[in-house]
Formats: sequence, structure tokens, C-alpha cells
Amino acid sequence: MHSHDPAPLYAAHLDELRRRADAALGRAGLDHLVVPSGTAHFHVFDDRDYPYAVNPQFKAWVPLTRTPGSWIVYTPGRRPRLLYLQPRDYWHVVPRAPEGWWVEHFDIEIIRTPEQALPHLPPAGRSAILGEPQSALGDYAPNNPPAVIAYLEYHRAFKTPYEIAMMRRASAIGARAHRAAEAAFRAGASEFDIHLAYCAAARQDACELPYGNIVALNEHGAVLHYTELDRDPPADARSFLIDAGAGYGGYACDITRTYARARGEFQDMVDAVDAAQQAMCAQVRAGVDYREIHLDAHLALARVLRDFGVLKLSPEAAVETRVSSVFFPHGIGHGIGLQVHDVAGFAESDRGGTIAKPEGHPYLRLTRTLAPGMVVTIEPGIYFIDMLLEELRGGPHAHSVDWARVDAFRPFGGIRIEDDVVCTGDAPLNLTREAFATA
Ligand code: GLY
Ligand code: MN
Ligand code: MN
Repeated sequence: MHSHDPAPLYAAHLDELRRRADAALGRAGLDHLVVPSGTAHFHVFDDRDYPYAVNPQFKAWVPLTRTPGSWIVYTPGRRPRLLYLQPRDYWHVVPRAPEGWWVEHFDIEIIRTPEQALPHLPPAGRSAILGEPQSALGDYAPNNPPAVIAYLEYHRAFKTPYEIAMMRRASAIGARAHRAAEAAFRAGASEFDIHLAYCAAARQDACELPYGNIVALNEHGAVLHYTELDRDPPADARSFLIDAGAGYGGYACDITRTYARARGEFQDMVDAVDAAQQAMCAQVRAGVDYREIHLDAHLALARVLRDFGVLKLSPEAAVETRVSSVFFPHGIGHGIGLQVHDVAGFAESDRGGTIAKPEGHPYLRLTRTLAPGMVVTIEPGIYFIDMLLEELRGGPHAHSVDWARVDAFRPFGGIRIEDDVVCTGDAPLNLTREAFATA
């Protein structure tokens, strides 16, 4: 059902984008969709630029992530156009001539300066121009009509088969790099050197990865977004949590694994979280409210904590008293695609509106009901976070915890297992497990 080669799937992807653009423009009563790829941002009081990040609305159309100053122009009923900036520049390597499976579907105009785009752009007053303010060329400035953005972002949740194939490729790169990182951990490498081993295996440097690698040994696994990368290995590397992705043609994967150096009860807890995570992945089916997966995850993780003697109360009571949130203080996941945290996670419809998060769960990033084509992460975790544990210990539910058991697990930091899962019309497709199986 899902092909692995994106090339033959691109034409149908483009047809779908055109249908969506037609509908979005119709909503806004506009005639043209115009999307700048974006331009460099600079450090304050400095001539140094930040790593360029392409406008996601641009890379939805073409798998180009390193072509600042270019524009997509689409007018319903016409072939899409690409104004492609290939500057005359001897300071930098300029973008290569357009190549790849998508080229034949566009009318391509090579421009040599950003301003040369102007005569090719349709009237601003009749156009939805989607981008950041600094993409403006003089008065020709992004206007980001809310009706157009709401429509496109809502529908972007439903990936085309082409997009699934692109994410498969990103996942294959990520799985390969995760294997290299695990090997580096087992060889005793520092966080920094594990990170380098990951990048080397992915053939992507830190600026190309879809987010900053989380490479955490021992207690560092308890810091949800730990990105420090210690240069020296610890004397005793007991555990390893790595949350690291990869990109392919602008699409991301987002993968987390946790390992113990030796057999023992931390590895047993990792295995228990892994089993629970697989059951959660099986819930990724059309018609399921993603909020339910999140709430069920609290029960499942509280059960693991009780089974390991950390919690002394029932899973239901742990969720009811919010004790489960001390150990699992983030959301079960999010949509993923062109952006690691894909947009429109709370969108009620393609006209706007918000689906609320469950009360007491402020960090959940997706509240929509699953439908075929959606790709979501499933990333349960159990952490031993000093700050949250201290609060619990000083509060009315301190007695619901066996603190000696907490102390036994604290040196290992935490556990997270994260896969990227496609909702289909049938059984879910786990892109991450598939990639590891073939890595
Ligand atoms: N890597 C960030 C996340 O898992 O959401
Ligand atoms: Mn994630
Ligand atoms: Mn992640």
C-alpha cells in the first residue's frame, strides 16, 4: 500500500497540493498562492548568519531546503512556477541547477538577484503570500491570510503517499544513526562523541538535523531537553537516552531510544516501557481521539511504576492525584512531517477553532482525532526528575511513593521510547520500527 520510492508518487502529491491551494484560495477570495523560501537571519550586531531554515510552506511543494530567495507561484488551473535564485556569487557555493523528480512539473525561472523575482510575481492584492516579514521585496510583503493558512495547515496533517515515502527515507537515516550511537555508548564514548558518531552515520551535521540531538548519559536522561553534550565520558555510564532525528528532502523523523549498559532492573523497566509503547502505537487508528492515547499512556506508565515498586497506589489513583505526571510530565507525542512538531495540532477544522487539551495536561501538542494519512509520534517516558520529585515529597501524596525505589532508579535518569507512526485506514504503520528492522 505504501511505496518506498518517492519519485513516482510526486505527481499525485502535487495534484493534492494544487487541490488544497485551490480550496484555500477560494476561501479567501484570492487568485494566487505565493510562497517565498525565506532568507538568512543574522546575529544581532553581527554579520554572521544563523543556519538558514526554509519556510515550511515552501518545502511542502518542492524538496528544497537550501535555496533562500526563491519563490513558488501557483495560480489555479496553471502549472506551478518556481522562481529559483541562483545568485552570481563568488563568496559562496550557489544552489545547483534544479534537478530531481519534481523539476518537470514546474515552470522554472532562474533569477540572479532576489529583486529579479518581482516582475514574475502576481499582484500582491490578489495573492496569498505566505512567509515571514523579512521575505518582503520592498512593498511586496507576505500577508498570510488566516483563512488560507488555517486551511493549508489543517490539511497538512494528512500526508500523501509521497510524503510517507519521504518520511520513510528520513527514518532509515535516523535508524542507521541510532545504531551507531548505541555502539558508541557501549564503547564508552562521551555524550559529545556519541553525538558525532550519530552525525557521521546520518551524514548530517547538527544544522541539518531536524532538531538538536538529545544525547544523555545517566542522570542527564532526566532533563527532558538535555542538549549539553558533555565532552568527557562519565566514570560509569549506566544508561543512555538518545532523542535524535534526521531529515530527508525537508521531512523529519523523531526517534528516541533508551539503553542500559548492563542487565538489571533499569533495563527491565526500559523493556516494560517499550512493551507499553508498542501497545500505544497500536492505538494509532482512524477515529481514535489522540487525547485518549495520552490519557491511557498515563495509566500504562503508572502501572509500570507500580509493578516496579516505585508507586504504591493504583494506576487509576496515580492519574487521579496527578502523581503520574511527576514521572511522565510531557505529552504522549505530536504530529510530524515537514516540521518535527507539525503545525495545527489543536485545529478543530480547516476554518479554525481549537480542540482543548485535557485539563491538567498542558504539554500535550496534539488533540485531534486520528485519520488516515496522519503521522504522529508515540513517545511515553518515565523520568526521575529531582525538581518534580522534591515537590511530590513535600506534598500530600508523598506517601504514595516508595522513596527508596526512587533512589534506586535516580542514577539512571529516565526512559523514553519514541516512534513515528502512520495512521492508515487499517493497521498502523510504524516507520521507526520498520527502519530499525532493516537498518
Ligand atoms: N525531539 C523532540 C520531541 O520528541 O518532541
Ligand atoms: Mn517527539
Ligand atoms: Mn523526540
